[in-house]
Parts: sequence; C-alpha cells; structure tokens
Amino acid sequence: MKRSKINRIIRTAKDAFAGHGFALPPFAFWSPDDWRAKGPEVSEIPAHGLGWDITDFGLGDFAQHGLTLFTIRNGTPDAVRSGQGKTYCEKLAFMELGQRCPDHHHYVKVEDIINRAGGELVIQLHASDDHGAFTDDALTISVDGVERFIAAGDTVRLTPGESLTLNPGVYHGLWPESAPVMFGEVSVVNDDQADNRFHRPVGRFPKIDEDEPPEHLLIGDYAEYY
Ligand SMILES: [Fe+2]
Repeated sequence: MKRSKINRIIRTAKDAFAGHGFALPPFAFWSPDDWRAKGPEVSEIPAHGLGWDITDFGLGDFAQHGLTLFTIRNGTPDAVRSGQGKTYCEKLAFMELGQRCPDHHHYVKVEDIINRAGGELVIQLHASDDHGAFTDDALTISVDGVERFIAAGDTVRLTPGESLTLNPGVYHGLWPESAPVMFGEVSVVNDDQADNRFHRPVGRFPKIDEDEPPEHLLIGDYAEYY
C-alpha cells in the first residue's frame, strides 16, 4: 500500500471516530518526530502492538478487502497463559461500505464485536473442523447476553449498541451495510502472530510504498522510528 493512502485512511478514521464522539488516547496522534523523541516510558505501546493497524489483507484492494483498526489496549500471550496481569484487549475499528473483512477464526481469543455507531454491521458465521474447513454445524451464539441458534453460513446483523460474542473456532467474516460502521472489539489478548486462521490464506500486515512521509505510525513502523 502507498503511504499516501495509509495517511488518507487514518485521517478518514480519525474524523469518523471524532464525529461519533469516541476519543482516542494521545498516542493515536503522535507524529514520527514525536516517536523519535520518546524514551523507555512508552515501550508498552510497541511491545503490546498498540496503535494504528491498516490492512488490505495482502489482496491489494483496500476498498473491497480493507479494515482500519486502532488497538487501544492489549496484554501479552504470557499473561493469558499464566492468568496473571493484562489478559484483555480493546480495539476500535472502522469499515467503509464495500469493504469486507475475510472469514477468519481465532484459536484462543474470545472476542465481543460491538457496533458502536454508523450503519449495520453484518457478521457471517461458520463453525470449523480441525483442518480449518467450514462445517454444516449450527451454532449457538450470544447477542448481548441473549442466546440465539443459527444455521451454518447465516448472518447476524448488529445495529449500533449491539454486540456479538465470538468463541474460538467460529469463523467470522464482516462487512457494513447502509453506512460505514465504527465498531469495537473487547477480547482476550490479541496475538496476530499465532492466533488467527483465515479461511483462505491472506496477508495481515501491508508492505508499504513510501511515496510520502507517514503522518502517524502503524504498529509495524515502530521499529524504524522508535
Ligand atoms: Fe476476529
């Protein structure tokens, strides 16, 4: 992805989040120069993978296969293993009409996907087998604490304020309808290195064409600037 495009995507997301009254923490707005001036006091941010995370899933078409994420807080896989400390994660996300997040499931992470504002968020669900294939099994799900039974491949539509709990092994693909959606994720620790299985193999972090300077850093940029 071109850096100029990533800069534009982050500007759009910042405007959308502010427009919906969701205030991001200060490090969302730090510039590369701000990062160069920081010391060890901010090391949790890169170490835990906090911050901007823009992906086109390696498919080269952000308008169709794109997702804008901001990781607000996150613990470590060690915390999950030991059951001590920060075992949780919170993200904020933004999707434009026409975008779709490809079907994936997690091995460990239980996550609540929360429609925070905008249009409807549609989530398509499939159970998985041990080899990562879809199964025909029906699913029991929880929408804001209310149990629901759905057939394989059915969708759940979340309006603003509604949330769905996703358990490990349940494939989910998501997209917005009627308007762009700002949504949250509250979950067990996020581990992008080991905990994602995509139904069709895709990339997770973009290769960047540096056609202009970054306005804000992505999670993958910290090593170069900090
Ligand atoms: Fe997920």
